[in-house]
Amino acid sequence: MQEIDSVRLGRWLNVRKLTPALAAEKAGMDVDAMRGLVDSGGTLTAAQLGRLCETLAVGAEQLRPGDGRTPTVMVQRREEMIATRRSIDRDGIHFYDYYSLPAPAGRVAPVILDILCPADHLPPLNNGHLEPALTVNLGPGPINGRWGEELDAETWRVLEAGDGDDAWITGASYVEPSYQPHTYSLASERPARIVSYTAPSGLRDLVDDCDEWSDAAFAELADGLAAGDGTPTRLATGLARRGHDAGSAAAAAGIAEDALAAALAGRGSLSPEDAMALGAALGLDYRLLLPRDAREDSLGRAFATVARSRASARRFRGHEVASMACAPHLPDLVGLFVRVDGAAPPLDLSEHGETHYLVTAGAVRVHWLDDGEGREAVLGTDDALWVAPYVRHSFDGDGALVKLGHGGVLDAGADLELDTCFRPAATLRRARRDRRGWGFDGEVVG
Ligand SMILES: [Fe+2]
Repeated sequence: MQEIDSVRLGRWLNVRKLTPALAAEKAGMDVDAMRGLVDSGGTLTAAQLGRLCETLAVGAEQLRPGDGRTPTVMVQRREEMIATRRSIDRDGIHFYDYYSLPAPAGRVAPVILDILCPADHLPPLNNGHLEPALTVNLGPGPINGRWGEELDAETWRVLEAGDGDDAWITGASYVEPSYQPHTYSLASERPARIVSYTAPSGLRDLVDDCDEWSDAAFAELADGLAAGDGTPTRLATGLARRGHDAGSAAAAAGIAEDALAAALAGRGSLSPEDAMALGAALGLDYRLLLPRDAREDSLGRAFATVARSRASARRFRGHEVASMACAPHLPDLVGLFVRVDGAAPPLDLSEHGETHYLVTAGAVRVHWLDDGEGREAVLGTDDALWVAPYVRHSFDGDGALVKLGHGGVLDAGADLELDTCFRPAATLRRARRDRRGWGFDGEVVG
């Protein structure tokens, strides 16, 4: 038998504008059985599920229940991390040992790498990956980073380690874009580890969908992006999709045609005021009509040296924190060094996104609320945490943490959607576990 989720079934009945009675008739099911599924879920035979999927034009997985409640916090002990070790050989040497940090099944988590390639061996490059990455030297020694076949100041540099009183800032950090080849070796006799967070790419769904597109359609998209050369994608496509050229759009918005034509040709950018007028006239989000902030280096990276992180140190909610590398074109990659040095503050941390913590020194106690119930755990060096979004938590004790986050379901695209949405709180509240139909679910078709 195949399990059916009542909320998901209800959602698809709404999308397809089918009442339970109409859907039952089309799927050859008993009306009361269908109502029972909509009310509280249940099971169907494979054949019944097949007919229901055909009726709703969905795949079976779109009607099956999800994984249930996501955990609030996961604690992983050092020994559990050690147990995830896998060794990688390259160039005939033991190159990396990988370890995983905790996350619920199916979620992305950072990995720790023991850098084993010795300082006198040039490390071979990898091929890069779709996922953008935030990488941090955990020390205690410095490492070499390599980002190109030819070695120069851009493609070969040292990521130093922190030391002394500031060792809670474990080392240099950097962010890198998709498909940037990279590799590491030791830069001294001292051992070194990195934590690397290859976070989900915001392009993942598009990339998956493009796999199924015709070659010609994909070339149309890619060639258009290449020719656009940094012009906001939404500007050209937004006008054309609405049947406007520069002249008619400028007239509709009451802005100068020259300025719009220049922005479309990549010879300038719209002022926020003009973008807003255009957005209001055509039904576009004006923020998508503005140019990207291209302040990354020539390989799409941004670095934070130990000195730069140290200079950013400040108090934040009872702790001392220091920033890691960041870049405006990778807005969902967030990293922070945290020094815990005191009594428990109130549960005043609550994160807009999944968050990973690794204890890098000392011992700290984490407190959190598990659906109203207070919980705590004492953590030592190399113990790690995964914390779900909007779970209240705090730390006390005497130690240091590395904190890493990515957007997940609360990424920059979702924020834009929430900020753009008409009455976002009411919309989310209504949508969560929504069992209400769109208003015609009482009718029975005879
Ligand atoms: Fe990587």
